[in-house]
Amino acid sequence: MANVTESNSGVVQLMTLALGAFVTFFPKEVEWFVDRWGQPGRPTDPLAHWPTDMLADVTPVACHSHNDYWRRVPLFSALEAGCISVEADVWLFDDDLYVGHTTSSLTVNRTLSNLYINPLLEILSNQNPTTHFHPSLDTPPNGVFDTDPSQSLVLLVDFKAKGKAIWPYLIRQLSPLRDRGYLTHFNGTSIIQRPITVVATGDAPFDLVVANRNYRDVFFDAPLGDLTGFGKGHAATSAPHLVDDDDEELDLDGIHLSASGFRPSRISLRMGNSKSKLDTQKKPAPDPAIYDQSNSFYASVSFKRSIGFPWGFHLSSNQLETIRAQVNAAHARGLKVRYWSIPSWPRSLRNHLWAALVREGVDILNVDDLRAATRQDWFKLVKKR
Ligand SMILES: *[C@@H]1O[C@H](CO)[C@@H](O)[C@H](O)[C@H]1NC(C)=O
Ligand SMILES: *[C@@H]1O[C@H](CO)[C@@H](O)[C@H](O)[C@H]1NC(C)=O
Repeated sequence: MANVTESNSGVVQLMTLALGAFVTFFPKEVEWFVDRWGQPGRPTDPLAHWPTDMLADVTPVACHSHNDYWRRVPLFSALEAGCISVEADVWLFDDDLYVGHTTSSLTVNRTLSNLYINPLLEILSNQNPTTHFHPSLDTPPNGVFDTDPSQSLVLLVDFKAKGKAIWPYLIRQLSPLRDRGYLTHFNGTSIIQRPITVVATGDAPFDLVVANRNYRDVFFDAPLGDLTGFGKGHAATSAPHLVDDDDEELDLDGIHLSASGFRPSRISLRMGNSKSKLDTQKKPAPDPAIYDQSNSFYASVSFKRSIGFPWGFHLSSNQLETIRAQVNAAHARGLKVRYWSIPSWPRSLRNHLWAALVREGVDILNVDDLRAATRQDWFKLVKKR
């Protein structure tokens, strides 16, 4: 169980609301965060104890923190909650990568480096002091979680547009992590586990992911719906999820869309809207045999689109069959299963779904509510069965 108690998380919640006043993101917020963490008995001097102690009693759980940019301390609130996967939506502007769900939410300092790469570097260099007690050359570096130093943290980078243009920027900006040996990589024959595993999704170009046969440290998010040819949303899942199915506003190349009222993916499928970049979804799906551990990490799909809404408030046998087929297909390739757009309301339905998905072998839950995900009362539901 995660040691994140309810009262603790309440404090974090308040803090994330209150952090708006900060101008620079790092490291002031980090000190502020640690300083006011509010855990009884926690040392008050943040510099003396940060960051190794910061995550000292956090047990990693298999949740994926989506919508991170809504939190003022996105990476840290996810880590504090024990999430082993965090997501950054990136846009390319003026020679840099900016993080935000829509172009209108971008601000000058909310860059991938400021929000994710630099804080991770800082945490990892503190987790891996080069003393003779910790011979960093012989042993793999420690990860971000003290309770499980071998746990790799997934950084899921969602390319919101212009994937081919974003690629070289991402590769370059990962250099400091790469140079210190912190990135999980494929060396031409094997996967070498390291503290950070970078996965590219959205408009990420698969051909660039596999371009180098001998070294890769950015892995693909394979289309789960295409691995089986199963499921009602098969056609719609043949492209990476350019279009999130969340009930949120989407902003693609300046077009402002409300996902709940207007579903561009379906429109382009039904009407053959040839002008839209979304018509990449009409392309035949590539042979699913191309996805394996040497190039991919997750296999993901929208739950709403591929499995559908659980009418009757439970999964039908058809839906369960689809999930099982997808889980088996992904696991046969060594890939981890991730569903996104899992219905989150009402809470009882969401808990039922989370429990069912964990029971069926789904590897990672996409969550918007970090507190609920890490409290894990839904595990009780799993164990009862
Ligand atoms: C961005 O960060 C720099 C230094 O890190 C700071 O000088 C600048 O004021 C910040 N700008 C905004 C708009 O937050
Ligand atoms: C890749 O790593 C594995 C495991 O460490 C090693 O056995 C293998 O020789 C490496 N391959 C190359 C091409 O370096």
